Amino acid sequence: MIILGINETSHDASVSLIQNSEILFAGHAERYSKQKNDWYINDSLINDALQYGKPDYIAYYEKPLLKASRLLLRGGYGKWKPKFNIDDIPCKSFTHHYSHACAGYYTSKFDNAVIVVLDAVGEYNTSTIWAGVDNTIRLVDKTNYPISFGLFYSAFTQLIGLMPNQEEYIMMGMAAYGDRYRYYKKVNEYFPSIHKQKYNFHKGITDWGLIKEQDRFDIAAAVQFVYELRLSEFMNFAKQVTGKKRLVFMGGCALNSSANTLLWNLFDDVWIMPNPGDAGSSLGAAAALYGKHINWKTPYLGYDLGGEYPVNKIIKSIKEHKVAAVAVGRAEYGPRALGNRSILADPRDADIKDKVNLIKQRELFRPFAPVVMEEFASDWFDMNFKSPYMQYTVKCKRPNLVPSVVHKDGTSRVQTVSRDQHEGLWQTLNKFYSLTGIPMLLNTSLNIKGQPLLNDENDILEWQSLYNFEVIR
Ligand SMILES: [Fe+2]
Repeated sequence: MIILGINETSHDASVSLIQNSEILFAGHAERYSKQKNDWYINDSLINDALQYGKPDYIAYYEKPLLKASRLLLRGGYGKWKPKFNIDDIPCKSFTHHYSHACAGYYTSKFDNAVIVVLDAVGEYNTSTIWAGVDNTIRLVDKTNYPISFGLFYSAFTQLIGLMPNQEEYIMMGMAAYGDRYRYYKKVNEYFPSIHKQKYNFHKGITDWGLIKEQDRFDIAAAVQFVYELRLSEFMNFAKQVTGKKRLVFMGGCALNSSANTLLWNLFDDVWIMPNPGDAGSSLGAAAALYGKHINWKTPYLGYDLGGEYPVNKIIKSIKEHKVAAVAVGRAEYGPRALGNRSILADPRDADIKDKVNLIKQRELFRPFAPVVMEEFASDWFDMNFKSPYMQYTVKCKRPNLVPSVVHKDGTSRVQTVSRDQHEGLWQTLNKFYSLTGIPMLLNTSLNIKGQPLLNDENDILEWQSLYNFEVIR
């Protein structure tokens, strides 16, 4: 049975194709249209997916009429209509939070787990707790619009001059530069407990007053602090009402890598699917229709550039320029570049940060992540768990040796790599290690400023002509 999963009409449209428990394809609309966080799927994406098989069913990631009823309340309206010819393929839709829950639980290795979904808003649900047992997912608790973890975070993102629903990760990075206590009391009044908020954050923060430049960083720090306090309380509540010790965490809030680390203190094991936001829900809807665990092997599920991983060319470029731009194989499904559409660089050189920032033309305070051989991760970072998808931020134990991958507060958002997980990337790190004694590289996304990750051959040509730097394949 082949199922095409679709999510669109929300930020980050995507499609996924599964055949029984195997994932054939999963890709983001933005990578094909070049519109960041594109809301709609496009023909190029659909055609790429359908070359892997013709679907017997279509699964849609939310209930269009239910969502339309909520949008009407807000003064907007939207209804999903497929933009391609689906002939007579039967289509089934699932609720927004159930699709998130299925994307998490069915890609996990857990039979028995609590599933927590936190986002801005689905149709009406904003926070849900589910029990996953023997392939069945049961709703245990829900919170409805407008009380919302995601809307709280997005409203403050907007307050400090960033794009809500898009630049929350920038506010998270800014938090390291601020004083979390300066505005703690004030921010806490907006979200004093997990079931109480000051008002509907969908309308933005309307009563803050004047904001100066340093205030932006102090507000970011306080918001991140309050978010982590409430997250911790919510997770303890979820653990208590289900009695479960393993956690599956999903929804856009699960992209907050600084906060995610605290989950390891609360649960025996944690699974965050590498694409936990709405873009992951095309796979979630397909899995919901399939109704059983699917075989999650890799996040490299999108457009296929082909080719072997160019280990020696990367090392040569890093030796000569301290930087290598790499595009090879299938594109990452999820927001992070995990080696197949990446800029890799020497982490020992503090100046490399400025060089990469200049290439990418991004804010100088933004941190860069290390990609480290899994076997050395705990020697270099304060972690006793794996982080193959760059989902956790931890203290670096030797920041002086790798200054370009350590944030202002001494932490790094780590990607661990094992040989099984990505042989080519692991070999590259191993080679760099044998040359330098450092088992890691700096890893950041390969994209043109303001655009999504590079996808295909045309993107590579465009990038090369703009930056006058060779993309290795
Ligand atoms: Fe969502």
